[in-house]
Amino acid sequence: MANGRLEGKRAIVSGAGAGMGRAAALRFAAEGARVGLLDVDEPAARAVADEIQAGGGEALVLPADVSKEQDVEAAVGRAVDAWGGLDVVVANAGVELAGEDDRADRLELAVWQRTMDINLTGIFLTCKHGIRALLGSGGGSVVCTCSPTGLYGCAPGFDAYSTSKAGVYGLVRVMAADYASEGIRVNGVVPGYTRTPMTEWVTPEEHEALIATIPLGRQGDPEDVASVMLFLVSDEAAYVTGAVWAADGGMTAI
Ligand SMILES: NC(=O)c1ccc[n+]([C@@H]2O[C@H](COP(=O)([O-])OP(=O)(O)OC[C@H]3O[C@@H](n4cnc5c(N)ncnc54)[C@H](O)[C@@H]3O)[C@@H](O)[C@H]2O)c1
Repeated sequence: MANGRLEGKRAIVSGAGAGMGRAAALRFAAEGARVGLLDVDEPAARAVADEIQAGGGEALVLPADVSKEQDVEAAVGRAVDAWGGLDVVVANAGVELAGEDDRADRLELAVWQRTMDINLTGIFLTCKHGIRALLGSGGGSVVCTCSPTGLYGCAPGFDAYSTSKAGVYGLVRVMAADYASEGIRVNGVVPGYTRTPMTEWVTPEEHEALIATIPLGRQGDPEDVASVMLFLVSDEAAYVTGAVWAADGGMTAI
């Protein structure tokens, strides 16, 4: 399984307890990285750590709510204390408040705010403290998880979610410019409609309608996204920064 594409690297992944964060953490560990599992759901992160350790890898459970700066700072601090620095930061944790998010005229301010706090401020805080650690290590790589909804109005009724994701594109590009001269690459990954706990609420009819929008004709698996994350954080992507890579079966191409 392992071919060591991340041998010696020290990574943190937010939202590592489920879905594509979990898939990325498992893949990174299989490729030789030590992985910090940052998640608000500590038992879920612990289960992923157990899987990694059972496979002979090294993982650290980092319980934290990404919308709380003290939590994120402490989590990054624990990884740096354990490993002497960081090389890779994946800012991935997010929520889609299905049943609460809505079109603008019906959208509760509290739902808007909670979505922004986790999906946009949370990505910012993970990058802020993660990048401080990368600067201390002399460079590294950052990947942020975007969404087609941040580019197109393809999710009517998810106004808060879509807007929060649009912000992530801006942050990726400006941070790529901010940190290139200091040896830090920053890229985004765009999952399409992916089979994770986040999409479990989708009805069979909605599922069929979504599949019809995907040229490759199937739902993505978390591992499809993790493969792109792996490439972006690896040294194979040494000349890639400020890019936003789709892993969406062609959804955003048409
Ligand atoms: N699933 C999709 O179809 C899809 C499509 C496009 C983009 N995305 C984005 O991909 C990312 C990962 O999504 P997923 O589908 O794997 O989600 P998921 O719900 O399956 O997993 C998200 C993980 O993030 C954690 N998390 C949630 N809020 C947190 C917080 N405040 N602090 C720390 N951890 C928190 C959860 O506990 C969970 O372990 C998200 O940013 C999401 O918006 C998902």
